[in-house]
Amino acid sequence: LFILSLVLLLLISLLSFLFHCEHSLAFSLKDCTILYSENSKNISVTCAKRHLTAIPDDIPGNAVSLNLSLNGISNISKVDLRGLSKLEALYVKNNWILQIDDGTFADLVELKVLDLGENLLTALTKNMFQGLSKLETLSLDNNIISFISPVVFQPLVILRLVDLSNNYLHQISDIDYIVKLPTLQHLIITHNNFTLFQSDDLHVNTSNLLTLSLDSVKKFSITRDIFPHLQSLDLRGWSKDIEWEVSNKTFLRSLTRLHMSETSLSFDVYRAILQTAYSLQEFQMDNIQKWIDDGLIDVACQIPSLRTVDVRNSEIHTIKEHMLQSCSNLVELNLSFNNIKSMADNALPSMTQLRSLILQNNELSELPVAVQGLTTLEVYDLSDNVISELYCPYFWNLKSLTILDLSHNQISYIFDCVFQNLNNLKSLNLENNKIMSFIDTFKDKLQTLEFLNLRNIDIMNFIHGDFHSLSSLQYLCIDLDKCDSVDEGGFEGLDNLQILYLLGDNYFYDHFSGLSNLSTLILNVVQSQSHNSSEQRDRPFSNLQRLKKLHIKVHRGYYDISKDVLSGLTSLEYLITEAYFMGSLYPDTFKYTPQLKHLRISYSELSVLTSDVFLPIPNLITLDLSNNKLRSLDFLAEAKLSALRWLNVSDNELFVISETVIQSLPGLTYLDLSANLLTCECSNYGLIQWIQGSKQTQVVNAHQYTCSFPVSQRGKKFLDFGFDSCRIDAALLCFLFSSSLVMLTLLASFIYHFLRSHLTYAYYLFLAFLYDNKRRKKGIPHSYDAFVSYNVHDEAWVCGELLPELEGQQGWKLCLHHRDFEPGKPIVENITDAIYRSRKTICVISPNYLQSEWCSKEIQMASYRLFDEHKDVLIMVFLEDIPANQLSPYYQIRSLVKRSSYLSWPQAGQHTGIFWQKIRQALEREENPTELHNGTSPAGG
Ligand SMILES: *[C@@H]1O[C@H](CO)[C@@H](O)[C@H](O)[C@H]1NC(C)=O
Ligand SMILES: *[C@@H]1O[C@H](CO)[C@@H](O)[C@H](O)[C@H]1NC(C)=O
Ligand SMILES: *[C@@H]1O[C@H](CO)[C@@H](O)[C@H](O)[C@H]1NC(C)=O
Ligand SMILES: *[C@@H]1O[C@H](CO)[C@@H](O)[C@H](O)[C@H]1NC(C)=O
Ligand SMILES: *[C@@H]1O[C@H](CO)[C@@H](O)[C@H](O)[C@H]1NC(C)=O
Repeated sequence: LFILSLVLLLLISLLSFLFHCEHSLAFSLKDCTILYSENSKNISVTCAKRHLTAIPDDIPGNAVSLNLSLNGISNISKVDLRGLSKLEALYVKNNWILQIDDGTFADLVELKVLDLGENLLTALTKNMFQGLSKLETLSLDNNIISFISPVVFQPLVILRLVDLSNNYLHQISDIDYIVKLPTLQHLIITHNNFTLFQSDDLHVNTSNLLTLSLDSVKKFSITRDIFPHLQSLDLRGWSKDIEWEVSNKTFLRSLTRLHMSETSLSFDVYRAILQTAYSLQEFQMDNIQKWIDDGLIDVACQIPSLRTVDVRNSEIHTIKEHMLQSCSNLVELNLSFNNIKSMADNALPSMTQLRSLILQNNELSELPVAVQGLTTLEVYDLSDNVISELYCPYFWNLKSLTILDLSHNQISYIFDCVFQNLNNLKSLNLENNKIMSFIDTFKDKLQTLEFLNLRNIDIMNFIHGDFHSLSSLQYLCIDLDKCDSVDEGGFEGLDNLQILYLLGDNYFYDHFSGLSNLSTLILNVVQSQSHNSSEQRDRPFSNLQRLKKLHIKVHRGYYDISKDVLSGLTSLEYLITEAYFMGSLYPDTFKYTPQLKHLRISYSELSVLTSDVFLPIPNLITLDLSNNKLRSLDFLAEAKLSALRWLNVSDNELFVISETVIQSLPGLTYLDLSANLLTCECSNYGLIQWIQGSKQTQVVNAHQYTCSFPVSQRGKKFLDFGFDSCRIDAALLCFLFSSSLVMLTLLASFIYHFLRSHLTYAYYLFLAFLYDNKRRKKGIPHSYDAFVSYNVHDEAWVCGELLPELEGQQGWKLCLHHRDFEPGKPIVENITDAIYRSRKTICVISPNYLQSEWCSKEIQMASYRLFDEHKDVLIMVFLEDIPANQLSPYYQIRSLVKRSSYLSWPQAGQHTGIFWQKIRQALEREENPTELHNGTSPAGG
């Protein structure tokens, strides 16, 4: 039993230890947030911008992505990332990391992306990246690294990209070991202190590098065939004249892409570079205005394989006649951000292959004539210029055009013939212009158009039939802000329209007819009030049976939204509103939208909601009620939202969240309660415990919530509340319970071992007590004068001597077990009965009596009456002289013998008369001096 109780003690301590550990496994993180994802395996944790100085210790072990950027973490040690074996991406950009211990990443066996950019690392030491055998991308940009250990990259057996830009590396041999990596494809080493890049300094025979970014070297020298696969060379930022040496043209045979910038390179260097890159297909230059006039573009175009020229930010004010004369093979030409004001009419000579021309962000005030004849052109971008007029037949020859961007210009008028012949156009962007009206602009044209952006134009009239022939249109964004006359059926003909984005003053209810395939409608309106007739106002979307997503953002919400407003939206899955349902919701608002899965009603001044509202939409997965005035979430308890996974009720006036609300949302994984008025009272204690214990639901930023009430608690951390005041500390309870259990077990085993005999006694005392109480309550009188307790071996004396004298001569009524015990009754009960129904008990003591079990019980019980009831009930008759030492094991008898007088048969000898006389006296004595003897009286008396 001792061992048992020890084992029990250990077990219980273990249990309470586990109970305590549970807290650290909880789902609501101290400083981080698990981003909500429909895919529950995709655990993305962000701890960015939280003023952290160390990596939090409660990142879940199954996190796949961890963002620790923009904090003040200064070192990472072995324990910080322990156990994150599922992590695939780790971003620690923009911290103050000086020190990374060896083996820090040892557990990150699945890591593919590691970003350590913008820190204070000075060296990459030997075992820093140990264990990162699946790393593909490593960013170490913007540190102060000047030392790289030769073996640091050895564990990175499938590394593909290394960014070491903006560091203090100065010898090319520092990157020897990186270039050597057989899997490495992309290396970025711009903005370091390299002065020479010489293949002779690299102890590599051949590298698999595909792209290399490098700048600011005095000498670039390749004298061995070490980069046979190099496709792309980024040499931006070269500010000084350099020495360019590629001893055999074939060394750069794979180079197809070259990106350069900076004006201070001499023309000759450019020419030298271009001459060694004989396979070049794509040439991108920034800031080379100085050499444009000298014909640099033309020099590049002389490379027969060149297809793409991209010259940005180079202040080319005019595209002159000969500037591009060798460029007839170009497929793509990008001249954006150049302040081009004019273009010679024959500036784009016979470019019979040109497919893309980007003239974005220049100062063209007219459509450039040079483009007119480019029949192969597919993408034409004229956005961000100052063009005011579109005229005919400018676009008529551009028959291949699929994408035309005219946004951000000054176009005020479009002749009705402008888009004629554009029979392949798919996308037309007219955003941000001054177009006032469309008069037959789209009529009988643009049957292939799929995307049309008319946002931010000054359209005044919106006339029935404008879009009649745009039968392929899928996306339309239109601004009706300034529209003062709107014809009914304005969207008719747009049979395939799927997404309609409407901006305006009001919404134009009656214009949704004819949009039978619309799946997404986005309304961004100033007022939700309408001037239209009431049926249309009440059921504005009733034609949109296929609509899946409806977004309504209102700037000035109107309070009387009809209860049938969602009528007809039987397919609706997303309803995202801002300031739309102002003040309240009708209970059956959603009866029309049984498919609804995602609902947002924010900035709507809702203060009360009822559960009825949600009964028609039991499939809701996300619910956003943020930025309202809700004071209670009790309506959720009956709302039956068992599928709800994401709930945002931030920025309300909630102060108590009851446990029934929590229990009514069994599927919840994400809950945002921030910016409420949480009360630190015991009524919220259930919530606090649940936040700390739940392994399913993340309560976002819960560790940052503070108490709003009572005033004495204001500003304190919400989760810290309640430890002393409300908590029946489960752990304490556990401790108390376990210790009492242990004590009890110990006690029991102790008692069992040492006081076994006392136990039986206590048991009978208890029985006797019960019996006596019962008898006294009922007032039952004694049936016998004496119960004679004796052993069967002494029956001869009892029947031969005692019975005749006491019953015969003296006339007492005796109770004898062989005669008066009720057959079938348990013997213990019979004994108790006999003792209590008799005034006295005569014990006939002999050696046999002492050895008998039953007799000792009888004496025990009788002595209980003697000692504990203070009654004189026991008469002891010794049949033989028993020496004291034989009596010693029977301590009760011994103490009785010491205490009261007893009768001895042997001592009576021949004078039995005195002996019997003494018994008569004993029997006559009142058993209780205060109690009147009104029971049986001695018959012989
Ligand atoms: C994982 O979740 C993040 C954040 O919610 C999301 O950006 C990313 O696209 C998701 N990735 C996958 C594979 O579901
Ligand atoms: C990490 O978080 C910062 C701050 O929110 C954000 O700007 C950055 O894009 C995030 N990085 C990634 C890779 O998601
Ligand atoms: C790492 O940073 C933590 C927190 O700033 C600091 O307590 C600890 O001493 C640092 N360890 C080392 C090795 O610099
Ligand atoms: C590296 O260059 C920077 C400026 O580009 C300079 O401040 C720094 O002293 C140089 N470091 C070394 C080691 O040359
Ligand atoms: C250039 O290299 C190629 C193959 O690598 C070789 O065949 C050719 O002879 C070399 N030319 C010169 C001038 O060394």
